[in-house]
Amino acid sequence: MDLEPTDTQVQIRDVARRFAREQLAPKARQRDRESLFPEAELRALGELGLLGINVPEALGGAAAGSLAYALAIAELAEACAATTVAVAVTNMVAELIVHFGTEAQQRAYVTALTSGRAVAGAFALSETHCGSDAAALATTASRVPETSGGGFVLDGEKQWITSGDRAGVLIVFARTGGPGPKGVSAFLVERDTPGMTAGKPEQKTGLRGSSTVPLSFESCRIPAAALLGTEGEGFKIAMTGLDGGRIGVSAQAIGVLRACLAASLRYAKQRRAFGHAIAEFQAIQWKLADMATDLAAAELLCARAAALKDQGRPFSREASMSKVFCADAVNRHALEAVQIHGGYGYIDEFPVERYLRDARVQTLYEGTSEIQRRVIAREILK
Ligand code: CAA
Repeated sequence: MDLEPTDTQVQIRDVARRFAREQLAPKARQRDRESLFPEAELRALGELGLLGINVPEALGGAAAGSLAYALAIAELAEACAATTVAVAVTNMVAELIVHFGTEAQQRAYVTALTSGRAVAGAFALSETHCGSDAAALATTASRVPETSGGGFVLDGEKQWITSGDRAGVLIVFARTGGPGPKGVSAFLVERDTPGMTAGKPEQKTGLRGSSTVPLSFESCRIPAAALLGTEGEGFKIAMTGLDGGRIGVSAQAIGVLRACLAASLRYAKQRRAFGHAIAEFQAIQWKLADMATDLAAAELLCARAAALKDQGRPFSREASMSKVFCADAVNRHALEAVQIHGGYGYIDEFPVERYLRDARVQTLYEGTSEIQRRVIAREILK
């Protein structure tokens, strides 16, 4: 296994690193405190090619692959996890349109996403009554007869939609057929489509600079050309998106974990107790050693899933393994980072309390850790 990144991967990582350090890090605390959505930052990231890292160049992407994507996401998340979640979902939406969309859909939406013109993309799957059991979704897409102009009408409610109030284009999953996964279809819905309304952004524990909203669809008319893929293919489209999305969440967790380690190393070397820097105490050293070891393991698991995806090989199981490990690791170590900082870890003068809050969601979204274990178990029991 070749662990050396290619020139392209290094280039993408370095572009992301520079932007993260120069543009994202300085305002990360303010974004968090004031729940500031990073609109200008997203547009700038589009100009750098970071909103379509695994999208063909002809559609405004960087065509650099999934491993480059993971490297970039980790860099951005180390500086600002809230901005990164909007970046990750936008990449996911752009990739899905490339994969399942018609040429006309690609032309209409992908460059808008990759350039930052659409600000962001959104993925509207979850509903108030179903997150893990995605196939139980109840939003409907009813066909309008050709004699009345054709197309579909969306009715229902969505919940927890990242950038749902900001996105220029949303993939909305709705039921066109009977119960279960086979009755689900996917649709491309543009911002400001009459009948679609975003509710108030949720007041979240972490990722406070990102916007998470409920969406309501009431007699929301969309054209027949809004159907993404074929009728009944929506669940497969959602699962394909989430497989790649789980690599993105892994990378995001890796970024926050790196930030925890860097902050802890800095503090442990500088803070003195009983006449010594606390980094000299074994109790602190073991925490730092475990953090560094889990970080290395997380990076390898994430790189393995991304490399399989780049090779066009199955990677669902590996993406879930990576996601469950990275999400658990960042939660464990964000707690330890606060512990190392003592009382200072509990106030916002130091960044670790934000890292802890940003870490918490990693075991919840894009499939809980329990769902990841279910995916892994099902694969290994085959
Ligand atoms: N890729 C392609 N197709 C897949 C697939 C995959 N990874 N996983 C399943 N499918 C297909 C199956 O092959 C099956 O099709 P066939 O019958 O033709 O074979 C069909 O989908 C149904 O599969 P299952 O029977 O496995 O479906 P299930 O109802 O048991 O669900 C599940 C499986 C893994 C639990 C799935 O529901 C799941 O991943 N749930 C979690 C949902 C989730 O992650 N939600 C997060 C939403 S997004 C978010 O967090 C916020 C945001 O803004 C991004």
